Amino acid sequence: MARLKVIAGNWKMFKTNSEALQLANQIKMKTTDIKNTKMIICPPATALAVVNEVIKDSVVSLGAQNFYWEQEGAYTGDLSAGMIKSSGATYVIIGHSERRQYFGETDETVNKKINTALENGLNPIVCVGESLEERESNITDKIVSKQISGALKGFNAAAAAKLIIAYEPIWAIGTGKTATPEQAQEVHKMIRDLIRNLYDDDVADNIIIQYGGSVKPENADILLGQEDVDGALVGGACLKADSFSEIIHIAESL
Ligand code: 13P
Repeated sequence: MARLKVIAGNWKMFKTNSEALQLANQIKMKTTDIKNTKMIICPPATALAVVNEVIKDSVVSLGAQNFYWEQEGAYTGDLSAGMIKSSGATYVIIGHSERRQYFGETDETVNKKINTALENGLNPIVCVGESLEERESNITDKIVSKQISGALKGFNAAAAAKLIIAYEPIWAIGTGKTATPEQAQEVHKMIRDLIRNLYDDDVADNIIIQYGGSVKPENADILLGQEDVDGALVGGACLKADSFSEIIHIAESL
């Protein structure tokens, strides 16, 4: 079954507003010929509104990297889903391993955030992935299954169908060390089978499962060519318009 390829760029904590404006403009200009690949860029929250002005009339969609699950309140320094939405975002990354590692996020907080995102009409990109130690102990499937089941707890098929899952092995993030296409395919298939078990064929066959972890123009072809790899969540290589648009064009050509 042919699923749409979805390429998202996670800018992480990079780009001031003027830099973001420039990068968004370049990405928009370099992707005007793209027809069959969904593109999402996720700048830091401070640049969401600025980037939205640039891409609002294009086919590039806007995503945020995080938010807090309460609707509003005394939560100094944090942002609500409604605020993210009002800046123009239609997607939001939830449970990135860096948030789990440095900011104490858990499967439980991921679950709460998915709920709030859906209530506010934001499409969640839910990140899962094992550490090097977990992979070496042969517990990748167990860890990733637990993360997925925890994230999806209490959601029906209609809700689950709105998610994008991003499989990002922690040992491949920012390390230049990519999962082999076989390793990626194996986990992606396992995730799809799990979704089939939890829901039904329709959700499983249509859900987008992205791979993330040192995706670059040099390896995008082989990774995106795997049957169950429906796109990429790109970190480092999305900070330059040339490499990001190259990855998008590779996706488009497959
Ligand atoms: P890198 O592409 O820099 O490895 O980052 C991947 C990532 O964490 C995307 O969310």
